Amino acid sequence: MTQPRAAVIGWPISHSKSPRIHGHWLEKHGISGEYLPLGITPEDFVAELAILPENGFVGANVTIPHKETALAHATEVTDRARAIGAANTLVFLPNGGYRADNTDGEGFINNLKQNAPDWAASSGPALVLGAGGASRAILFSLLAEGTPEILLANRTKARAETLASEFGDSITVIDWDTISDATTGVSTIVNTTSLGMTGQAPLEISLHCSPNTLVTDIVYAPLQTDLLKQAAAKGCQTVDGLGMLLHQAVPGFEAWFGTRPTVDETLRQIVLK
Ligand code: ATR
Repeated sequence: MTQPRAAVIGWPISHSKSPRIHGHWLEKHGISGEYLPLGITPEDFVAELAILPENGFVGANVTIPHKETALAHATEVTDRARAIGAANTLVFLPNGGYRADNTDGEGFINNLKQNAPDWAASSGPALVLGAGGASRAILFSLLAEGTPEILLANRTKARAETLASEFGDSITVIDWDTISDATTGVSTIVNTTSLGMTGQAPLEISLHCSPNTLVTDIVYAPLQTDLLKQAAAKGCQTVDGLGMLLHQAVPGFEAWFGTRPTVDETLRQIVLK
């Protein structure tokens, strides 16, 4: 049998950390497979994807700018990918075509479960900052895990309102300039914006949180963002964003290579190098 191959497809692709993650797991489990970065333009994406199975590929991750196109052309779509409106994990089907899944929400939740074992999404309301693609996956997963109410704030309020309207009445949109006040009384605080990332503007917020509040950031460069530093200084629980990236890769690896891998400190160090 030829060795199974998987890929991450994006444009550009050089920044992707996925080859390091999957490469580490292939080596760790002694699997003679391959995981390759493929830079494919939007014009060529659908045609190039279709010929991958002939070349030994069993599936692929897709990243910017292909996540919506990959969903639109799928033979099968998981419920969560449909709800999130984008795919990140594709599995080629034996009779042609592929199943499109989105594992970002699972990655987000499993990162919190691993690093804050006492945290439960259902324990109280959440505050989510940002209304882009990452926010959509996180809102979906928080609601699926039983978060009773979500306060959603975005610089461009209309974008938050559009997003909230897709998820029913558990989400309340609040003004961006009220985010500090909104940190009072929530159990979970999530930054899904790019604010606080190296080279980006800072996230200006003053946290009112307790040891029961979990604060997490999808930004992982730097690993300890100002948001997480402030949260830790105020005695709140914190989980950094690197684990979301690592945990979202788990279901794809399992589907392609038949082994469910784990996320550990060794993997974190490999990805941080
Ligand atoms: P992704 O799909 O990765 O979530 P995105 O769709 O570009 O990325 O969304 C980025 C998020 O960061 C948005 O919520 C964006 O707010 P707008 O919808 O108002 O653009 C937020 N963001 C980016 N720069 C920001 C800034 N300087 N101030 C406040 N929010 C910002």
